[in-house]
Amino acid sequence: MDVNINPVIELENIHRDYRMGDNIVKALDGLSLTIGGGELTSIVGPSGSGKSTLMNIIGCLDRPTDGRVRLNGEDISILSDKRLSTIRNRNIGFIFQQFNLMPRLSILENVATPLLYSRVKTSERNRLATAALQKVGLGDRLKHRPTELSGGQKQRAAIARAIVTNPSLLLADEPTGALDTTTGELIMDLFRQLNSEGRTIIIVTHDPEVSQQCRRVVRVRDGKLEPEIVNVY
Ligand SMILES: Nc1ncnc2c1ncn2[C@@H]1O[C@H](COP(=O)(O)OP(=O)(O)OP(=O)(O)O)[C@@H](O)[C@H]1O
Ligand SMILES: [Mg+2]
Repeated sequence: MDVNINPVIELENIHRDYRMGDNIVKALDGLSLTIGGGELTSIVGPSGSGKSTLMNIIGCLDRPTDGRVRLNGEDISILSDKRLSTIRNRNIGFIFQQFNLMPRLSILENVATPLLYSRVKTSERNRLATAALQKVGLGDRLKHRPTELSGGQKQRAAIARAIVTNPSLLLADEPTGALDTTTGELIMDLFRQLNSEGRTIIIVTHDPEVSQQCRRVVRVRDGKLEPEIVNVY
């Protein structure tokens, strides 16, 4: 996949401090990073190094203490929380280690949920959710509940939910962490397929099998970046 020169995410000298009584924890300590459109990137580093904090800032779920964040060229630091959540819903899909599916809803209803925030009719919502589920190979599981699926199928459903709004950026925090090796490989195949179709994907992972499949490997330590690894295939 050719990498687009237009950056999706630009982080400039990001600091994120947490105040703990009289102490300040510098979770991110002057970190700059640009992710171009169409890239497949992993974020690695020891526990507590700041990976999730970084993902939350990239995903516009959290704001830096200092520094500038641009999403698709737009400076988001000056936006209201309401505007920011609209932009987030439109541009970013999230995937988590524990899938975060709603147990009482069918897979189809789970995948259709992000469309409730847009003005899409029910019939169109169901059509888009069905198409997303077909894309991840779950077209024959629409009526199932999450408990009636395997771990890999649950993560496929979560990926369908993340892509149903056609966001420009997918963010995954340890997406294979709860899966066995073979199932994790199939999920990585799916991410690579989605990337080859032009989606920008960022994956936080402890698993070298996962990071090896990403062209860029961004390494975080003590809230700072170490020289990144570029995998050439
Ligand atoms: N809400 C918070 N309040 C105070 N300190 C926090 C908070 N969230 C994170 N931290 C601290 O910030 C640092 C970075 O945490 P973060 O969760 O980003 O690490 P991580 O790299 O995702 O670790 P892991 O691999 O274990 O998930 C840690 O020292 C952590 O204790
Ligand atoms: Mg984390």
